[in-house]
Amino acid sequence: MIHKKLKDFPADFFWGASTSAYQVEGAWNEAGKGLSVMDVGNHPEDVADFKVASDHYHHYKEDIALMAEMGFKTYRFSIAWTRIFPEGMGKINQQGIDFYNSLINELLKYNIEPLVTIYHFDLPLALKEKGGWTNRDTIAAFVNYAEILFEEYGDRVKYWLTINEQNMMILHGNAFGLLDDDSKDIKQELYQSNHLMLVAQAKVFNLYHQKVKNGKIGPAPNIISIYPASSKPEDILAANNYSAIRNWLYLDAAVFGRYNATAWSFMQEKNITPQLKSNDLKILKAGKPDFIAFNYYTTATVAEDFKAEAENRFKGDQQIVDNEPGLYRRQQNEYLAETEFGWEIDPVGFRTTLREIYSRYNLPLIVTENGLGAYDKLEAEDTINDDYRINYLRSHLKQLQLALTDGVEVFGYCPWSAIDLVSTHQGINKRYGFIYVDRDEFDLKDLRRIRKKSFYWYKNVIATNGQEL
Ligand code: BG6
Repeated sequence: MIHKKLKDFPADFFWGASTSAYQVEGAWNEAGKGLSVMDVGNHPEDVADFKVASDHYHHYKEDIALMAEMGFKTYRFSIAWTRIFPEGMGKINQQGIDFYNSLINELLKYNIEPLVTIYHFDLPLALKEKGGWTNRDTIAAFVNYAEILFEEYGDRVKYWLTINEQNMMILHGNAFGLLDDDSKDIKQELYQSNHLMLVAQAKVFNLYHQKVKNGKIGPAPNIISIYPASSKPEDILAANNYSAIRNWLYLDAAVFGRYNATAWSFMQEKNITPQLKSNDLKILKAGKPDFIAFNYYTTATVAEDFKAEAENRFKGDQQIVDNEPGLYRRQQNEYLAETEFGWEIDPVGFRTTLREIYSRYNLPLIVTENGLGAYDKLEAEDTINDDYRINYLRSHLKQLQLALTDGVEVFGYCPWSAIDLVSTHQGINKRYGFIYVDRDEFDLKDLRRIRKKSFYWYKNVIATNGQEL
């Protein structure tokens, strides 16, 4: 649709950016923090781990001052479960509570609205050792952890996200600590974990609405449009299969409180259906989100597949489709360029995705991740000329504005990432931030913060409320 006139971004639009605790904080074993699966995970040895990361734990005041300088209206960060409960449950670590109190207060000092992810991949190791998300006790641990957060911070935090990219954790189990081995098979334990997470999430939606009256809560999956490789009906069916398994399984459960039929029949076919307890479906139905947050980096293109065996799987990279025998097979999209890390760049697909989610669920949307990972270069006089990042973000924001004009209700945009941080599996030199952190994979240097060109560009975008992109 071509619009003669574009809608303006809403006056109270949440301009901001995102990070996650284990990727940005460092201080992995300080101030009483327990170990998480990300601290000990099967991380590649040739890139940085998460021990120091961007050392935001010790630099948060300076970092928040820079966010304020950019004009952020909101900042999405996650709380490290193991700072609050070093063992996942049981004894509370007061130093952890204090840290996030200081961080939240620092944001409020600049009128930046905190947008808090409760759980971003970093399950406490102590829970993992007891079976993690395959153990029903983890539901209670998660609900209890969330309850403490609502009690401690609920007076000041009004926007909450339950679980970051649950769908990526399930589809790429070995990348995010759900599986220990490099197995390429789909496992029942993954879909059992998925089910328990869905139940835990629904319980937390419910609990929040009972406890807090003037705040909002939503899920935060990674949702993308899926294209068929051609107009061949079998390819279209393949795209429909992948959409159900990758996207709708998660959001249908979160919003409608039921399993998506195609996804359920896929689980039956593969013999991986979760074991349900009699009350589970009731709990799913009772939990309702107030909005949908979603992360978007790229789209995916798939074709039909006739194979009997899994092959060419990319368990470690969450944006690369894993072929599913008999259901779908990854295809390159010849119309799209790629980032240096092989992720296809698709701004128009962003508009399509926003429309698809909104027309299916009719809830307000917020984009909680979108961005370009690149090898930035620190040049003379402390400059980083990341025009490629500006181009990526600008082209996506243009499509977001088109989606707004199409009638999609979007209340915020938080690209990845506010500041450079350690990528899930590709180190610190796959950079995403508006703020450069001066360190290399293994040489920590001085961890100095330096404004990139995109910093100044985004500052102006926010100052003009998106009039100048
Ligand atoms: C999302 C995650 O999958 O993508 C983030 O929520 C992650 O934690 C981001 O960092 C970018 O991915 P990567 O693998 O480049 O770090």
